[in-house]
Amino acid sequence: MRYAYYTLAFLVILTLSVMGFRGANATRPPIELWPDMDHQAKYKPQAESKFFADGRADRAIPAGTVPRGRTTAADASYLRADEAHYAGKNADGSFVRGFPVPVTQQLVERGQNRYQIYCAPCHGAVGDGNGITKSYGMVATPTYHDARLRDMAEGELYNTITNGKNTMLSYADKLSPDDRWAVVAYVRALQRAANATIDDVPLEQRGGLK
Ligand code: HEC
Repeated sequence: MRYAYYTLAFLVILTLSVMGFRGANATRPPIELWPDMDHQAKYKPQAESKFFADGRADRAIPAGTVPRGRTTAADASYLRADEAHYAGKNADGSFVRGFPVPVTQQLVERGQNRYQIYCAPCHGAVGDGNGITKSYGMVATPTYHDARLRDMAEGELYNTITNGKNTMLSYADKLSPDDRWAVVAYVRALQRAANATIDDVPLEQRGGLK
């Protein structure tokens, strides 16, 4: 039993001598049993450099550099330089009116699908602001069917989805730029449907109206 105590005492002393007391000050660097790759000759971001004449470790991007990445034909948009398409804005910063992508049946159906997942819980299936969240106290969700939102530029609707607005959060992480335009197209369809007249219904279908 005595040897067990000796062994324990030896281990404690060994541990303390190698690792020291936690929180204790030391003037010498700690002994590192496994330094792994902790110490490397490298520059940290925005660090100073004595090597380069301008004193910066970060080098300026050479003129004419184009971002590389997903460069398949389907995603040649990596640069996202097209402001109208990716920000919903014209060159002068105003919001785009109309759509920078072709509006097809397929796009509107995609928009309906995304809308019902991401927007309908608050804005309601028909865009009147009466989503399920209303019954849980979220009463500030606006309808799309007032004049202000009907006259709003498509680019501004796109911008609201991208960046959010006041208490509404951004949906940029859930909807790709093209999906956002699809949702805008579907919002337009909802607005059109809520303000339709009998003349909008094809003749052969009017008989089915109640
Ligand atoms: C969690 C609830 C919620 C969800 C989900 C939601 N919204 Fe909103 N939305 C709001 C609220 C609340 C406002 C009012 C914000 C304000 O102005 O205070 C709003 C405002 C808006 C407006 C009006 C902005 C303006 O200029 O006044 C638009 C357009 C809009 N949402 C579109 C969408 C679309 C499209 C989606 C789906 C991608 C969506 N919202 C998803 C809650 C939501």
